[in-house]
Formats: sequence, structure tokens, C-alpha cells
Amino acid sequence: MILKSTYLLLLILLFPILSDAQNPVWQRVAPGVWKTLIGSPDSYDLLKATGVLPYQEGLAKLGEAGFPLTETRIEGEVSDGKTYLRFPLEKEEQLFGFGLNFKTVQQRGRILQLHTDHYGGTDNGRTHAPVPFYVSDKGYGVFVNSARYLTVYAGTTVLRDSPEAPRPLDRNTDKNWSAQPYSDAVEMVIPTTGTEIYLFAGPTPLEAVRRFNLFLGGGTLPPRWGLGFTQRVKSLYTANQVVEEAKAFSEKGFPLDFIGLEPGWQSKSYPCTLAWDKNRFPDPADFIRKMNEMGIRINLWTNPYLSPESPIYDKIKPYTASHTVWGGVVADLTLPEAQSILGKQMEKDQLSIGVSGYKIDECDGYDRWLWPDVAKFPSKNSAEQLRQTYGLLLQKITTDLFHRQNRRTYGLVRASNAGGVSFPYVIYNDYYSHEDFITALINSSFCGVLWTPEVRGSKTGEEWVRRMQTVCFSPMAMINAWSDGTKPWSFPEVEKEVKEIALLRMQLMPYFYSEFAKYHFEGTPPFRAMNLEPGFGAMASTEHKNANLAENPYLEAVNKEIKGQYMAGEFLLVAPLFKGQTERSVILPKGKWYDFYTGKFAGEGEIIRVSPGLAHIPVFVKEGGIVPMMPPLLHAPAAGQKFDLEIRVYGKTPGIYLLYDDDGETFNYEKGDFSWRKIAIFTDKKGKLAGSVSKAEKGKPDNLGKISWKFMTE
Ligand code: GAL
Repeated sequence: MILKSTYLLLLILLFPILSDAQNPVWQRVAPGVWKTLIGSPDSYDLLKATGVLPYQEGLAKLGEAGFPLTETRIEGEVSDGKTYLRFPLEKEEQLFGFGLNFKTVQQRGRILQLHTDHYGGTDNGRTHAPVPFYVSDKGYGVFVNSARYLTVYAGTTVLRDSPEAPRPLDRNTDKNWSAQPYSDAVEMVIPTTGTEIYLFAGPTPLEAVRRFNLFLGGGTLPPRWGLGFTQRVKSLYTANQVVEEAKAFSEKGFPLDFIGLEPGWQSKSYPCTLAWDKNRFPDPADFIRKMNEMGIRINLWTNPYLSPESPIYDKIKPYTASHTVWGGVVADLTLPEAQSILGKQMEKDQLSIGVSGYKIDECDGYDRWLWPDVAKFPSKNSAEQLRQTYGLLLQKITTDLFHRQNRRTYGLVRASNAGGVSFPYVIYNDYYSHEDFITALINSSFCGVLWTPEVRGSKTGEEWVRRMQTVCFSPMAMINAWSDGTKPWSFPEVEKEVKEIALLRMQLMPYFYSEFAKYHFEGTPPFRAMNLEPGFGAMASTEHKNANLAENPYLEAVNKEIKGQYMAGEFLLVAPLFKGQTERSVILPKGKWYDFYTGKFAGEGEIIRVSPGLAHIPVFVKEGGIVPMMPPLLHAPAAGQKFDLEIRVYGKTPGIYLLYDDDGETFNYEKGDFSWRKIAIFTDKKGKLAGSVSKAEKGKPDNLGKISWKFMTE
């Protein structure tokens, strides 16, 4: 009897590993979120790397929703040591996500191998954030919690026995023949014996993304100063040169909140010592104090490969990989010992004297530079798993250091993955295609990461101002002059326009800060794809009708792809111009839209042509848009510093905007030390629009000074 039941138990335990394709059993884990296990998942995965927990309060507010797919059409199977997954696809369905792609927004019809890497010019899955999450325009999301190199067939496979199998067509005679016939599934192969999968309900695609972001901890809330302007100085600058640079910003009236030091602050780099260079920075503490007195914080570049001359080399060596990078050791950052040795060095040498954050470089790839997949790590986690999560681990370690000091940080990182949404880091790279940078900004909203289209150099003043305009409408307004030392005023012919956009960025701080608070508390990406905007899908499809589409929805999906415009917060639609352009089309979704600068009606559910001149980046505001702005200060308001508010109102519709306020610097908001101020627009007794702002609750932050109103639409 006992033997029989032990045998039965064994059978049950082994069943998932031995079984053929089966419909997984889903368990509800949060409102509108379900989880299942296929086979025997690895003990280390993306969520374990980050240790993040769901932001339950935010999820509860989104509320319950029905299971968004037909359960019997989802399949999982383990065979030959690999996991095979299959999810259904409807005929017209469009797919977005699968990480930080640079050239494509629509992913249906693509084959990707999700692999952390420096972006190489092709959307093949190798990118800085190869996040295994996708969202469908039908309003649901799928997340595979695996730190492996996943192969994704995003609607390219055709199953013999599918009820929806495409009709074979005759290429000789049929115009509708296609080399890539209709597929009704997303399929994946994971090179390991199992995985966890999460499913997120909508009902809209934006709500599916919000659930994903909230389930992974909620979006990051940067310090206020993080949303100001930042300049990264030339690699070998000395302390005195940095001080001079900061003075020049102030004298010329350009805003500046933090300066980034590049490799030269360290005594050795590539591999790094993670210690100050005594010649260029003889007294780092004094230098940082001086900078802080000028209202400027310091961010430090590093890569994670440690030089034999690093003060922590000997200590960390036992916890490092079998292989080196540029002769530096690669710490096994899944080990608490390695995390602690690295963290202590940063704390002792840098955080303790006031460093405000890091730029964590080179944790993504190139294959020929990085540790190879044959490398061994002492934790026994594979080189592949470390590759997929190294950026996440570094973000986590440094985020925790600042959290312990109750100081917010905001920095840069070159690799991330699912689970990084709550970390205060923005991704960047060396690729430098302005158009593709905007596509990346759009795609960042489908995968829980932030991206900056950083500005380095330009061939002409025209290109310079166009790039500056987009970076000022992104998560980090930055010039990265590490190599050529460019300044915002380097092109005198457009200095005025560049200053204007940098100052507009500062003016928009109350709006952007509130939008980031919504990222944190509600999961809404502050900069996001038009495809997440209600009323946009219908517009996109009327624009691109094509005779062959009925037979081949894949083609339709690709044709529908709209790049080059995006949403910045609740109300603003940004449509950048690129070098050489003087005009462009803009798709305005359903509803009325107004010109941001003049308040004039711009269009309504239509495609318009605009030619804004060099001074302006086209920005449109939704009907009822309420945009709280502050004066063009050169630095973000410090904790407790009051600032005046100019509230701009667009259109004729009464409405409400929630303005977020807290000290802007610490984590006290986690203990409830914040306020939402309700800005209400209503029609007064004379039938005119008027506005009011609710008082801050007693004892809660109140940084608002004088409030004025600007009703922009006549
Ligand atoms: C690159 C990085 C640049 C700059 C440079 C310094 O890898 O992308 O932004 O930091 O290293 O060596």
C-alpha cells in the first residue's frame, strides 16, 4: 500500500517532465494575473535575480478581470531537455514587446532569440533588454520568467492540424500567395527543463502592461533632480575641469542637475579599480561637496570587471567566474558574498561622500568581449543565466545601497530585463541612430524599461537641435560628451533653440514628475507607444489598407506599424523631426488635439502635416489636457523648496489632473509621505472654464507656491 502511494507520488512529481504537450493549470496570483509552471523550472530566474515583489495596492486598484485566453489553446511541454510553449493568436491580432527593439514596433511574424547583447542593427532578439514579455492588441500580456536564451516564433509557425491552418495557394497563379503564410500561434523554445509563465489580463493593452509593471514592483520613481538636465563630461576631465564646466552652464543660463564622470575618475579602467584616480581627483569628498554647493550632483561611470589593482580584487576573487573580461575578474553577483564586497566598496568610497548614482556600462555584450557561454560561475548558475541577468543584478545591488541611505538615485545601465521596472535606471547605448532611438523609446513602454535617446555629437546645428528636442521629451535629458566634449552651446547657430528646449524640460518637471509617480503607483509607462493609446488602433488601420491583407494578416500587421511619434505622459503626443526634415505627418487619434505651444485646434482623428520650423518639436495635447508647469529653473527644486505653478489647460472640456508631490529626494513616500493634489477644471457661473487645486492634506508635502492659470484654447 505504502509502496503503491509512493509510486503514485513519484509519478505525479515526474508527470510534468515526462508528459507530452498539455494544457497548463493556471493559478490566480493577483487581480488579473495568473501563473503556471511547466516542467521543472530552473532554481534561478529573472524574478529571483531581482527579488522584486508585486505592488499589491496598485494591482488591487486595477481590479479583477477574466482569464484573457482560451485555456485549452495554451500548451506547454518538456522534451529533450527543453521547454516548448504555444500560445494562441487570432487572425487580426498584433503583438508588441519581446524587449527593447530598435527598428520594429510590431512583432508579429518575427523570429527572435532573446539574448542580452549590445544592439547590433537588427531586431533579432539580441538587445540590451531582451524581456520575455509580449502584449497583444487584444488586451493581454504573456511573461515567461526564464533567464535563458529563449527562441520566440511570434506568429510564424504553421501547425499541420490547426483548425485555422492557412489554405495552400498556388504561387503560379495566385497574387495572394505569400512566403510566410498565416500563423495562429506564438511558440517558444527554452533551453531548459521548465519555466514559470505569467498571464496578464487587460482589458486594454495598456492595462495589461500596467499589470505587468505593477506585478514586477511598479515603475521607478526618480528623484526630482533626475528629471532635470545632465551632462556627461569628457573621459579624462579633472576635478577642476568639471567644476569649470558646471560654472559655464550656470553663467550661460543652461539648466544642469547632475554631471556624469566617465572612466577617467577611476585610477584604472577596462578593467576597473572602482577607486578614484588620485591625480585627476585628489580630494573626491571636497570635490563633491563643492559641486553640491553649486546644486549639482555627481554620477559615476563604471563597468563591472575588476582590475587586479582594485582594492577589492583579492577579496572578491574567490567569488568570480572562470573567465575574465579585459583581464578583469567577473564577480558572480548571484552570490551574497560578491554582492556585499562590491557594495561595500561603492558605499565606503563613493556613496559615503555623496555620489548620487552610477552609469553601469558594458554589462550587455558584445560576445567577443564578454565572458563566453562556456564560463563557469561558483554559484553553478550558468554563464547564460548570468548574461541574461547581470544588468539586473547590478541595478539591484546599487539600488539597495541608496535605499539603505534613504536617498533616491537615478542612473544609467546598458542591460536590463524583466524585473528591472522598479530600478531607477535608464538604458542607453552607442548605436546613435536618431530615428531608431525613437523606436526604442516607443518599445521601452512594452517591456518595463526606460530608454534615453542620448545626444553625443552632430554633424550640423540642425541635427543637434532635433536630437536635443527628443532627449528633452524622454526619461533622461542628457548629453553624453564622454568622447568629444560637446556642450549644449557647441552649435552657436542653434544655441537659443537648444536653451529653449532644455528650459522647457525644466518647466515640464511637475508634469513629468507626476507622470513618473503614475508609473510607480499605477504602472503606466511615462513615455509610451501610440499603440497603447485608446483610439489609435483604428486610425492606424485606415491609413494602411492594402488589397492582400484579408488573406495575410501578418502583412497587415507589418503595414500597420507606426513609428516616429509617441505619448509623453497622460496628455502629450510628441512627433519629432529628424535631420533634413522640415515637415512630417502626424496621426492624431480619435478626439480633439491642440498645438502645445499655441493651444490652437490641430485636428481630430486624422492625419495632419506639420512644418514647425527649427525652434519647435511638434507636441500636441489631448482635449481636456491639463499640464502643470513650473518656472524655467536651472536646477530641480530641492526637498521642501516651494515652486510656482503655471497650469496650462487645452480644449474646452472640464477635467481633472492628479499632481504628485513629495520631498523629491528620499524614500519617505514609501511610508505615505506624499500628496496627490487634485487640479480640477470646471465651468464657472458665467459659463467660462476655471480651475482649482485641492489643498495638501495636513502634515503632507506641500511644495506649491503661487498658482496661475493659462487657458490655452480661445
Ligand atoms: C561606452 C559607453 C559610452 C561611454 C564609453 C566610455 O561603452 O556606451 O557611453 O561611457 O563607454 O568608455
